[in-house]
Amino acid sequence: MFVLFILIAAFSAKQVASQELSTPTNIIMALPKTMRAVGLYKYLPIADVNSLIDLEVNLPVLKEKDVLVEVKAIAVNPIDAKQRAPKPNVETTPRILGWDGAGVVVAKGQSAKTFNIGDEVFFTGDHRRNGSNAQYVALDEVLVGTKPKKLTFEQAAAMPLTSVTAYECIYDRLLISSKDKGRTLLIINSAGGVGSVASQMAKNLGLKVIGTASRPETQEFSLQHGTDIVLNHTQDLIPQLVAQGHGNGVDFILVNYDPFPYWDTLMKAIKPQGRICLIVDSSGLVDLRPLKDKSVTLVSEMMFTRIKYDTEDKIRHHQILEQISKWLDKGELKHTLTNTLSPINAANLREAHRLIEQQGMIGKLVLSGF
Ligand SMILES: *[C@@H]1O[C@H](CO)[C@@H](O)[C@H](O)[C@H]1NC(C)=O
Ligand SMILES: *[C@@H]1O[C@H](CO)[C@@H](O)[C@H](O)[C@H]1NC(C)=O
Repeated sequence: MFVLFILIAAFSAKQVASQELSTPTNIIMALPKTMRAVGLYKYLPIADVNSLIDLEVNLPVLKEKDVLVEVKAIAVNPIDAKQRAPKPNVETTPRILGWDGAGVVVAKGQSAKTFNIGDEVFFTGDHRRNGSNAQYVALDEVLVGTKPKKLTFEQAAAMPLTSVTAYECIYDRLLISSKDKGRTLLIINSAGGVGSVASQMAKNLGLKVIGTASRPETQEFSLQHGTDIVLNHTQDLIPQLVAQGHGNGVDFILVNYDPFPYWDTLMKAIKPQGRICLIVDSSGLVDLRPLKDKSVTLVSEMMFTRIKYDTEDKIRHHQILEQISKWLDKGELKHTLTNTLSPINAANLREAHRLIEQQGMIGKLVLSGF
């Protein structure tokens, strides 16, 4: 027994040493060879215990511009549940989900220049690669920003994906700026992850922000995160807009929900020359013809676009994260963390996916620690 123990100790010491020598990256700390992760082979309903399973896998291999981040906390988003949704495919190697989190940089690729070992960061991810539901994640440095200093890792992990999405909706797609002070933005579903950040950003630009929610607690959360008034989206929105003095319509609409059931409402509520931004796939075909008469602009937002298509402006992803970080530290944005589960394991992640699939989440759900 004693001899066996010494053998194992010697063997693992050798593994760490050989990795330090052979890995062509700037590793300062000795890293373990394997890590805990949560992933899947099969795409199953979340009630199935095999829908997300505990794994022990090798650390990810770094690309040139990657940083390796030791994960402290992760957030779960609708995109995770969508990527995991039941389908017949079977993966030959495990797939690790998760594109939102916070942690510490522990290694970097040869041409990664933005961060140093030991930096505390928060990050999104690339949905074609393995994600953050693991002790370590490899990320192109463009997907990484400086963690807000005043926030805990859990609070910071709640922010990247929704904040980048909200920022792109408000600034890059709806093209809202301080010139739009006094104009109106309607946010369908304003108490969710993206809604509760977009409402704060628009409020900071001087807009009148009209949200929608259906429960007293979601309405209250929305009012605490930048909306001026909150309509009840289980009832027709048009009479409610009229009652609030917006019978002439609104200048901008952000739709954080399937646009299909809202389509006629959107066409009626938008002012001439207004802009509408969609972030969720439509469950049915919609009629674009009413857009023309009012010269309405319809835009879409998908946070992964700049990364997926390697667009010339993809550095903006990093710049947006840095801006978000400053706003959070200055108190110009409030974090939206509402619920934390610990530790990060398959059982807790299945619970998180179940809650996301139920919809009606208030703010963000985070898992922390291994
Ligand atoms: C994800 O991680 C697993 C476990 O290390 C690995 O087998 C698989 O190839 C990785 N997938 C991708 C897309 O890198
Ligand atoms: C929203 O409307 C529904 C349906 O009319 C109602 O049941 C619910 O109580 C309303 N919510 C609030 C916060 O008033």
